[in-house]
Amino acid sequence: MAPVNVTVTGAAGQIGYALLFRIASGHLLGPDTKVNLRLLEIPQAVKAAEGTAMELDDCAFPLLAGIEVTDDAKKAFDGANVALLVGARPRTKGMERGDLLEANGGIFKPQGEAINAGAASDIKVLVVGNPANTNALIAQQHAPDVPAGRFTAMTRLDHNRAISQLSTKLGVSVAEIKKLTIWGNHSATQYPDVFHTDVNGRSAAELVNDEAWLADTFIPTVAKRGAAIIEARGASSAASAANAAIDHIHDWVLGTPAGDWTSMAVPSDGSYGVPEGIISSFPVTTADGEYQIVQGLEINEFSRARIDASVAELVEERDAVRALGLI
Ligand code: NAD
Ligand code: LMR
Repeated sequence: MAPVNVTVTGAAGQIGYALLFRIASGHLLGPDTKVNLRLLEIPQAVKAAEGTAMELDDCAFPLLAGIEVTDDAKKAFDGANVALLVGARPRTKGMERGDLLEANGGIFKPQGEAINAGAASDIKVLVVGNPANTNALIAQQHAPDVPAGRFTAMTRLDHNRAISQLSTKLGVSVAEIKKLTIWGNHSATQYPDVFHTDVNGRSAAELVNDEAWLADTFIPTVAKRGAAIIEARGASSAASAANAAIDHIHDWVLGTPAGDWTSMAVPSDGSYGVPEGIISSFPVTTADGEYQIVQGLEINEFSRARIDASVAELVEERDAVRALGLI
């Protein structure tokens, strides 16, 4: 089988450094699939990315068929089967939200165009760079020839964080927790939902049996975990974010286990009252390289209000990038 072309943007950044070695050692696509890595960076960071490429060579990974480093998006995405869009413009002091969206539009518009121009017909895109959901929408809107559903954004880190918090609360292992959902935006408005979560055949919500804990401890801990990591580490999450990116693509390509689902931000088809087209997190199952939004879940009042609030924020972000002419 020909190697799979995996493009990583922001390759010289901290997530890039935590991500590339795991892709090359087979954690992304499994132990039988060779990969060609394409590392995209801005010109000032190409040298650092070349240093990382030297280290990748020095690992002598049997699955790593080749590495290319470039600052040219067209080259980086040419023939790409998987694209991990990690590089983004961080919010800096004094920057308004509109400035941040505009700066990111300057990155994700040309990358969407380059994906449209040259990616392989089976391209799968994961946007990690924040604001991830809206950056994914910008890239998608500039790739009209690529099926819209191939553009996704990452809420798997939130999903994994929520499982970890719940496992501590209930004194069970993470492997015993199934069917947890992150709804909405990868932001402080996201909603981690345990009302359909299963722990060894029992309802997690019933086991917790404490709505105040859900509202006042669990949800804010998960939703503000990114900020807590920045506060503690002095830098945003890197290894856990890279791990979640690996989980997202791994499950998209290789499937979710029977009896479980995962969370991915995908273009809404109108399910659960989420306006069509916005890239919002849903419970999804995956098989044969395709994902499907889990249907038919009952949404209680507690969940409805929180899903609606996060979705409203995504609609606002979409309207803001539309007003800026970015989509
Ligand atoms: P970083 O600053 O260490 O690295 C970002 C890299 O992107 C830099 O090397 C920079 O040169 C590069 N870059 C900037 N513009 C680029 C472009 N146009 N093309 C290619 N590369 C470009 O940041 P990081 O810690 O690696 O985080 C990257 C992004 O991921 C940030 O936006 C961060 O907020 C986000 N993030 C998202 C999640 C999530 O769960 N969705 C979690 C953690 C971090
Ligand atoms: C995270 O959830 O850890 C990050 O999205 C935080 C950030 O702002 O980079």
